[in-house]
Amino acid sequence: MFSKRAVLSQFQPRTTSLGLQYVRRSFKSSSGPLLQKTARLDPGLEMPPCDYKPEPYQGISFEHAKEVRKNNLNPALFSYYKNPVFICKGHMQWLWDSDGRRYLDLFAGIVTVSVGHCHPYVTEAAKKQLSNLWHTTNIYYHPTIHEYAELMASKLPGKLKVCYFVNSGSEANDMAILMARAHTGNFDFLSLRNAYHGASPGTLGILAHNTWKLNVPLGFGFYQTMNPDVYQGPWGGANCRDSVAQTDRTCNCAAGQCMASKMYVDQLKDVLVHSTSKKVAGFIAEPIQGVGGSVHLPKGFLKGAYELIRERGGVCISDEVQTGFGRLGSHYWGFETQEVVPDIVTMAKGIGNGFPLAAVVTTPEIAQSFAQAIHFNTYGGNPIASAVGKAVLETIDADGTQKNSEVVGTYFLQELLKVKKEFPDIVGDVRGKGLMIGVEFVTDKESKTPLPPEKFVPIWEDIKDMGVLMGKGGLYGNTLRIKPPMCITKEDVDFGVAALRTALQNYIDGN
Ligand SMILES: Cc1ncc(COP(=O)(O)O)c(C=O)c1O
Repeated sequence: MFSKRAVLSQFQPRTTSLGLQYVRRSFKSSSGPLLQKTARLDPGLEMPPCDYKPEPYQGISFEHAKEVRKNNLNPALFSYYKNPVFICKGHMQWLWDSDGRRYLDLFAGIVTVSVGHCHPYVTEAAKKQLSNLWHTTNIYYHPTIHEYAELMASKLPGKLKVCYFVNSGSEANDMAILMARAHTGNFDFLSLRNAYHGASPGTLGILAHNTWKLNVPLGFGFYQTMNPDVYQGPWGGANCRDSVAQTDRTCNCAAGQCMASKMYVDQLKDVLVHSTSKKVAGFIAEPIQGVGGSVHLPKGFLKGAYELIRERGGVCISDEVQTGFGRLGSHYWGFETQEVVPDIVTMAKGIGNGFPLAAVVTTPEIAQSFAQAIHFNTYGGNPIASAVGKAVLETIDADGTQKNSEVVGTYFLQELLKVKKEFPDIVGDVRGKGLMIGVEFVTDKESKTPLPPEKFVPIWEDIKDMGVLMGKGGLYGNTLRIKPPMCITKEDVDFGVAALRTALQNYIDGN
């Protein structure tokens, strides 16, 4: 569709320290006169149009904000990009910086803006609630939490009917661990290597990326098993994933079978036999790992893992913080793609479209065990949070968000698979499902060595300079994470893919 020649023909060649580069002849955009004036590398395409015109930004200057960040904010906070983006306005899949430059947001504030920035319906619901009742605690009755819990429960299968509303994904996962232990009376708890489930003292024990670990005692009784990564791991084949995107590996598995999946389940068994007591409290996993770089668990893995955990008296938790709410397209919840029903589901991020809201949903039996002591938090399910959460669920239905994730996400993956073919020595793997996508960069096809940051980052920065925001993840930070607001269109995909293609070509031309 956008041949390299067609894309590059719109640029003027220029020699830079990186070799021959292409600079667009003139900067075109529909977002008005406030655009930056310097030429940037970009795919020479016009961004898909956007009717929304933001007011000029008039707040704190970017320079001032940088000073405040340096002096008054958490020094361990990492910020994206050498020249960070100062985002001041959002509308659906679009963001604007303080200079009025428009960006296509393919990362959604870390997979959080589910139905679109400032979605009008959700915004209206929040405004209405803001003028009615901000807060009263849950020791009183107030309407919205009841309306919300009823609607939320209707979205979950089986006995998953009891909702706890909390404030963050970490709090939700902490609660799930506590529930598992309270319900089973067991202690040992399992997760996957390469997992991220939050950064609280409890969840730091179950996450398995040393980049996040502090050198302090972090939780006891936590064990991790080998990550079922069918691209980088020891086992993987040609049809492991429930997706159009597979690895280049070959296998002899019959249709519907996945030997790799069985091998990884055996690894879990090995940990259970060697490391834990005979009884366990629980197991937590994401169906597609988010922070871990969109590693897509092979078909049947959760079924096998859940069996092993339940045989030992444990409960199974699906962390749907990133994979829930229709993002995977074919299903509303990620666990459904693995044909399992967990005992506890944790949610955050997309649940509130950016509003601080999270939840744990479980069965009446587990909730009863957890009721042996009072559990209370001040803000969980407060009137505004509940109004927003309910409006998000309604919007997913009204806008056909799940279907859009399926159609546009599948198209996105197919286009990325073409890019993989064009750049086989950098793009090692394209994976994911719906609008939960990862593109892993390597130094070469055979060794699959993660592309080091000094090589990865310029490609990723180049994409940003063309007006497209993508995330990055994985232990080595070498995987592009594409998880946009679920309202994006195929035209947006074309633009994002053209930016990626151009950045990869620039990288090759500069090396
Ligand atoms: C899968 C998953 N679980 C839990 C969390 C923690 O959520 P929060 O940052 O709201 O505490 C995250 C955050 O990135 C996440 O990706």
